[in-house]
Amino acid sequence: MCGIVGYIGNQNAAPILIEGLSRLEYRGYDSAGIAVLGSRGPQVFRRVGRVRDLDASLPRRLAGKVGIGHTRWATHGPATEENAHPQTSEDGRISVVHNGIIDNAATLRERLDAKGVKFSSETDTEVIAHLIARSEAPTLEGAVLDVLSRITGTYAIAVLDERHPDRLVVARNGSPLILGVGDHEMFVASDLSALVRHTTSVVHLDDGELATVTATEFRTFSKDEENTAKIPTTIDIDFEDVGLAGYRHYMRKEILEQPTTIERMLRGRLDERFGTARLDGLNLGPRELRWFRRVKILGCGSAYYVGQMGAAMIEELARVPADAEPASEFRYRNPIVEPDTLYVAVSQSGETADTAFAVQEVKRKGGQIVGLVNVVGSTIARECDGGVYLHAGPEVAVASTKALTHMGIGFALLALCLARVRDLSIADGQRIITGLRSIPGQIEEILTGEPGIAKIAAGLAGAQSLFFVGRVRGFPVAREGAQKLKEVSYLHAEAYQTSELKHGPLALICESLPTVAIVPDDELTDRNLAALQQIVARKGPLVVVTHPGVAIGDPAVPAITVPKNERELDPILLTVPLQLLAYHAALALGHDIDKPRNLAKSVTVE
Ligand code: G6P
Repeated sequence: MCGIVGYIGNQNAAPILIEGLSRLEYRGYDSAGIAVLGSRGPQVFRRVGRVRDLDASLPRRLAGKVGIGHTRWATHGPATEENAHPQTSEDGRISVVHNGIIDNAATLRERLDAKGVKFSSETDTEVIAHLIARSEAPTLEGAVLDVLSRITGTYAIAVLDERHPDRLVVARNGSPLILGVGDHEMFVASDLSALVRHTTSVVHLDDGELATVTATEFRTFSKDEENTAKIPTTIDIDFEDVGLAGYRHYMRKEILEQPTTIERMLRGRLDERFGTARLDGLNLGPRELRWFRRVKILGCGSAYYVGQMGAAMIEELARVPADAEPASEFRYRNPIVEPDTLYVAVSQSGETADTAFAVQEVKRKGGQIVGLVNVVGSTIARECDGGVYLHAGPEVAVASTKALTHMGIGFALLALCLARVRDLSIADGQRIITGLRSIPGQIEEILTGEPGIAKIAAGLAGAQSLFFVGRVRGFPVAREGAQKLKEVSYLHAEAYQTSELKHGPLALICESLPTVAIVPDDELTDRNLAALQQIVARKGPLVVVTHPGVAIGDPAVPAITVPKNERELDPILLTVPLQLLAYHAALALGHDIDKPRNLAKSVTVE
C-alpha cells in the first residue's frame, strides 16, 4: 500500500526518486517524502498530498547522489507531514522509509521515551530510526541487524546514514523489496513499476533478507550475516506499459487493453489437438492432477469473486468439488488442509498480505498450493508450489479490470487441465478452446458499446443505492459488478442471488433503487426473467446485462448485450460491461477514478 524507492549512483537522486514515487502513487497516496544525502548533509522533505505537491515544494537545486523516498497510505497516525516518511533520528543522521507494520512499536516507543528520546511523529517507523541511531554496532549493516532482532512485524525498509554516504541498507520481511541493477547506479523499490524506466535487471529480496547497495554493487545477506548469493534476473516489462499512453485514466486504458493482453496470455497455452491447456508452470503432471478430489480457491476482494467464477468452471468442466473463500478469513478458522485438495491462491499483485498468509497456512499444514498471479516474481508467486502467470501487464488503476478477466481465463485453463485428465471429452475441450479464442474479439465488440454503457452509467450515478443480481454463474458477476461500482463511484451497491430477492432484499425495491440484473442465455433465463418481474411490479428501475436473443419483454428496460460464448466462459465476458459501467458512473460523479478514497492497490498489511 505504501511505496518505497531508493537511488545511489552518479546522477542527482531527487528527480529519480520523485519519478519513481509518482509511479508508485497508486499504492498509497496520502503523503510523500524524500531524503537526499549531499555535501550539505541529509536533507528531508515531506508533504501531505500527492507526489506532485512534494515535487513542487522541493528546492530548485537539491544536490545529492544517494537518497530514499516514500509514498504513504496511513496506518499508524493520520496523514500529516510529521507522520510522512522518511522518518529520522533525533540528530537527523539516520533516515528510514518503511512499508508494513511494526507490531511491537508501542513497547519499543515506551522504552525509548523512558530514555529521553523525543519523538516527532506517531509512526511505528520512527522507532526504527531512533534504534538504528542508538545502536553501538560499528557498521550500518550491524546497526540495522541489531534493530531487526528487536522488532516484530512486517516490513520493507530502506535506510540512509550520513556516516555511510556510499550505501543504502535495505531489509525485507513480509513486504516486497526489489533491487534494480544499473550501470554505475543502483535502484531500490517496493514495486517493479518504479524501476522499469531505468533497468530491467532486478533482484527480488526474500523475507528475512537484507542488502547493502552501493553505486556499483550489491550484497545480499541473511539475518545471521550469511551471504545469500543472488543473481539478477531480467524482467520482461515494457516501459510503455506503465504509462498513461494518452488516456485520461489508467482504469479505462486497462479496460481497453483487454483484447490485446488476453490474446498474449493465451499464446502457446492452448492445445487444440488434445482439447486441453498447457500450463507447465503448475508443476503438476496428469497423475497428480487426477489425484485431487477437491479445489479450494483463496483470494481477496475482486480476486475472491473471480475465484467464485473459477470454482464454478472447475465444477462444471472437471466435476471436481470446488469453492472459493476470502483469504483474509481462511487462516483464522484453523482450516482443515487436506492432502488431496488443490489450493489455488489468486492475486493480481501477488503481494496481498491476507492471501500471502493463507498460502503460508496451507504450506505449514502440508497442503499443495498453486498461484494465479499477475506480477512476476511477487511474494505469492514465489511462495506457491507452482502457478499460472496471468500476463495482463502492469495494472496501475486501483480498481482491477484486466487482471480480473485474466484471472477468469486462468481458471478456465486450469479447469481444462483438471477436466481433461478426467471425463471431459476432447470435443468438449476443443469447444472450450474455441470459446477462449473468441474472447478477445468478443471483448472488442463489447467495447464498441461504450457510449451506450456510459449513458446508462450516467443515469445510475444519481442513485443512492443499487442492487446487482445474478444466479449461479451470474452471481459472482453481480458481486464483482457491485464491488467495482462501489470502489470507484462510492455508490452503495449490494449483490444478491436473483433467487434470494424474494427472501428479504425485495423489501427495499422502489422507484429510487435501481437493479442491474445479469441475465445470461442459459438454462436459468426464464427463471431469471420471472424474478425480474418482481422488481418491475414494484417500480424498481432495471438495467439488464444479457445475451442476444433474450427477450426482456419491456423495451423501456435498458439492456447491455454481450456476445454469447460457451456457457462456462460467459461470466468472463459479462463482467466487462460492468467495468465500463463503474468507470463511467465514477466519471459522471467527478471522482478520482484511478485513486479511489480509502483504497490501495495492493494491501500489504493485514
Ligand atoms: C485490494 C483492492 C481490491 C483487490 C484486492 C486483492 O483490496 O482494493 O480491488 O481486489 O486488494 O488484490 P490482489 O492484488 O490480491 O488481486
